[in-house]
Amino acid sequence: MTKSIHDDIERILVSESEIQEICKKLGKAITADYKTKEPIILLGLLKGCVPFMGDIIKHLNIPLEMEFMDVESYKGGVSSTGDIKIRMDINTPIKGRNILICEDIIDTGKTLDTVIKLLLHRGAKNVEVVTLLDKPAARVIPLKPKYIGITIPKEFVVGYGMDYKEYYRNLPYVGILKNNVIDKE
Ligand code: IMP
Ligand code: MG
Repeated sequence: MTKSIHDDIERILVSESEIQEICKKLGKAITADYKTKEPIILLGLLKGCVPFMGDIIKHLNIPLEMEFMDVESYKGGVSSTGDIKIRMDINTPIKGRNILICEDIIDTGKTLDTVIKLLLHRGAKNVEVVTLLDKPAARVIPLKPKYIGITIPKEFVVGYGMDYKEYYRNLPYVGILKNNVIDKE
């Protein structure tokens, strides 16, 4: 009953303080780039974006609206606007708007590729991406986010929004799970 989620972590990859430094640094860069532009829509991709978005907005000194989408890319599907399953859609018109997508991690790039295409198809003026973590070695679709917190090796990580079977999102750092926690499939 008193099981600690920290006990399941083999090692910490990005600490709480490193994450806070990253949020500050990214916030500064984004503020500088957007301060002369039209107000943006900061679009969080649920559920992984929640801790990161909550922290980074404190360092964005620009007018912004917050919106969310919950999407699932069909596994193995071709990336196009038809291949995305939207569990929850954005709630405001986006025609002519500047959008900054807020992601926890980019792996194959399939999710973002489909979301970006969908937003442009709907008439967004400009779509950029800020991600806390980037795993470029896992990329299947060439995709370069404009703002990257930190690049990590091709390893499965949990914490700070990222889950294994929906758990561990509430860890305050990004870590690697112990082997015995992962189900052998
Ligand atoms: P992609 O479409 O392969 O780029 O995957 C992106 C999504 O997969 C992310 O938004 C995460 O939700 C999830 N994901 C990718 N890598 C990891 C990981 O190492 N741990 C937890 N979730 C991950
Ligand atoms: Mg995600």
